Amino acid sequence: MTTMKAVRIHAYGGPELLHEEEAPLPHLNPDDILIRVRAAAVNPVDWKIREGYLQGFLHHQLPLILGWDVAGEVVECGDQVTAFKSGDEVYARPNIERDGSYAEYIAVKASDAALKPASLDPIHAAAVPLATLTAWQALVDAAQLQAGQTVLIHAAAGGVGSMAVQLAKARGARVIATASAVNLGLLTELGADQLIDYTKARFEDVVSQVDVVFDTIGDDTQDRSWSVLKPDGMLVSIANPPPAETAVSFGVRSAFVFVQPNGSQLTAIGRLIDEGRIKPIIHSVLPLSEVRQAHAISQGGHARGKIVLRVAN
Ligand SMILES: NC(=O)c1ccc[n+]([C@@H]2O[C@H](COP(=O)([O-])OP(=O)(O)OC[C@H]3O[C@@H](n4cnc5c(N)ncnc54)[C@H](OP(=O)(O)O)[C@@H]3O)[C@@H](O)[C@H]2O)c1
Repeated sequence: MTTMKAVRIHAYGGPELLHEEEAPLPHLNPDDILIRVRAAAVNPVDWKIREGYLQGFLHHQLPLILGWDVAGEVVECGDQVTAFKSGDEVYARPNIERDGSYAEYIAVKASDAALKPASLDPIHAAAVPLATLTAWQALVDAAQLQAGQTVLIHAAAGGVGSMAVQLAKARGARVIATASAVNLGLLTELGADQLIDYTKARFEDVVSQVDVVFDTIGDDTQDRSWSVLKPDGMLVSIANPPPAETAVSFGVRSAFVFVQPNGSQLTAIGRLIDEGRIKPIIHSVLPLSEVRQAHAISQGGHARGKIVLRVAN
């Protein structure tokens, strides 16, 4: 067997450029595992890359297989791999510079993967890596969020936000969350302490003196976020790099996070999942053949949790 089913783009543009077709099987490096993909999640970065918005930042060759969240079964290990064996069920946020997971098979560096949390099926497992690593690397690594601190989480019902709320609660923080009315019930269920319907109130009118702002939106939301921080607080963004001079003028700190693959962090995240302390929220599950519809939902900007593609059983 030298080919597999995959969804690729041959040019940048709209969802009509996503084509399900035969593609070569991935090349396996000595430190890679080959995963038979059971499920792949869709993230906003997928359609941003498809549209060509990240061409100056990432260095992709076309045709390109999109999708950087995967759950599936290890079917082959490179010569240097000792951490996994064929038959292991794993999940990963693979290297975004390589072909992705909208395919029957994907090659992933072994250190970027972890054993799938035992309590999750592959659909739910695929929903975890990219969004949860992003929340972890923003709140734990960059902001070093501590028990007793207060964090304002924007777009808290989204893929990243819904995991950020739960991670912050698991660390003992107080969570203020923004979303529209339809999602406030979910956020209460996830443990948020204070809710702001951003369609009815301006958050800066009702929030002040927070330790951390998690900015998942950027632009005007970021501009309005500086004033709610306490002195020496931190704004961490995953949307737009915050200008350092603005942070200085408000007497606060800032950071920009671009999520990196990390198998060890996925192992720690899997432990929290198996302990029942955090869980992925699924917006919808679609077959791989409906990937264009999945992109349309994501691009609409109002998904509640994750959109997942079912690739195989
Ligand atoms: N730098 C990185 O490494 C990195 C990693 C992951 C994601 N990102 C970026 O971070 C952003 C969020 O990602 P995601 O996966 O969480 O997106 P997502 O799942 O598509 O987010 C959708 C959510 O955004 C909410 N929302 C939209 N406008 C809002 C507003 N003005 N205020 C509050 N909530 C609002 C929606 O809630 P309602 O329906 O209630 O409006 C919806 O629940 C995207 O731009 C993505 O590209 C960056």
